[in-house]
Amino acid sequence: MADLQALREEAESAIASAGSAAELEELRVRYLGRKAELTQTLRGIGELAPEERGPVGKAANAVRVALEAQLTQRTQELEASELDSRLAADRIDVTLPGDPPSPAGHLHIVSQTRREMEDIFIGLGFNVVEGPEVEFDHYNFTTLNIPPNHPARALQDTFYLSPDVVLRTHTSPMQTRSMEVKAPPIYIVVPGRVYRRDSDASHTPMFHQLEGLAVDESITLADLRGVLLEFARAMFGPEREVRLRSGYFPFTEPSVEVDISCFNCGGSGWIGSQRDSLCKGSGWIEILGSGMVDPNVYGFVSEMGYDPEKVSGFAFGMGIDRIAMLKYGIPDLRLMFENDLRFLEQF
Ligand code: PHE
Repeated sequence: MADLQALREEAESAIASAGSAAELEELRVRYLGRKAELTQTLRGIGELAPEERGPVGKAANAVRVALEAQLTQRTQELEASELDSRLAADRIDVTLPGDPPSPAGHLHIVSQTRREMEDIFIGLGFNVVEGPEVEFDHYNFTTLNIPPNHPARALQDTFYLSPDVVLRTHTSPMQTRSMEVKAPPIYIVVPGRVYRRDSDASHTPMFHQLEGLAVDESITLADLRGVLLEFARAMFGPEREVRLRSGYFPFTEPSVEVDISCFNCGGSGWIGSQRDSLCKGSGWIEILGSGMVDPNVYGFVSEMGYDPEKVSGFAFGMGIDRIAMLKYGIPDLRLMFENDLRFLEQF
């Protein structure tokens, strides 16, 4: 009877500390299998003295029943905890958003700047139109009063696709193209790519311009100045001033170069005791070319009602990339088109 009690205690603690279903199966064989001590005891009951058979048999059976029950319970517990840990390890939160292949990007700095410029001119009553980048020399030069021997027509400045087709060197061909299809008044801005055979820190063979054209009754240089002042203030801050200097373009008369007061030094030319390097100490930054539309240009669209005795207008052209470089302090135009994410992600 004492042996049975010792056996029971040994088996119970072994079962309680078993860590896996396989271990439990081994214990079942060891304590309850055919060759187990308990099984042997039950089998050998008949050999005991008659008065011992009852109590020993009863006690041995009770141990067997207890051990079987404990094994069953422990097996269930282990299976449950193995399942729990597998469920925890394999858990997938299906409510999380999926991973995109790469993070969403944003508009290129040139596109951002172009849109900002368009918005300003839309607010001033202009419409946005676009034109072809592959252009006839007729629109790129001839209707802009640029004579055949003009240096802008030379091979070293212009990409020719054939003797009379070029990659447009500016957005100005859209002046005549637009007036050909729309009678006055006309108020348009034309953003787009232009091409010139040029390459250094401030020139790339492709860059962006925004053309402006306003033709109506009694438009004057003062209207040009007012529009450009509004633009300068919207783009570079409400304290900006503009300055018109006389210039030359074949398709405007008079022609003016337009400067804005420097937003880096506030127009003084000095930052502390240092000359401002952005405006080179002048307090002014050139931002565009412009002027009053030359009567010879109207001559190409006279059948649409552009009579220089009745209408007048101004045109301007500015570099979108140049505006962005100024606004964000970018030192080299080529950075814009190298597609280096370390640069692009900054804007
Ligand atoms: N097309 C000129 C250029 O590219 C700029 C300009 C546009 C000048 C309109 C006057 C009027 O330099």
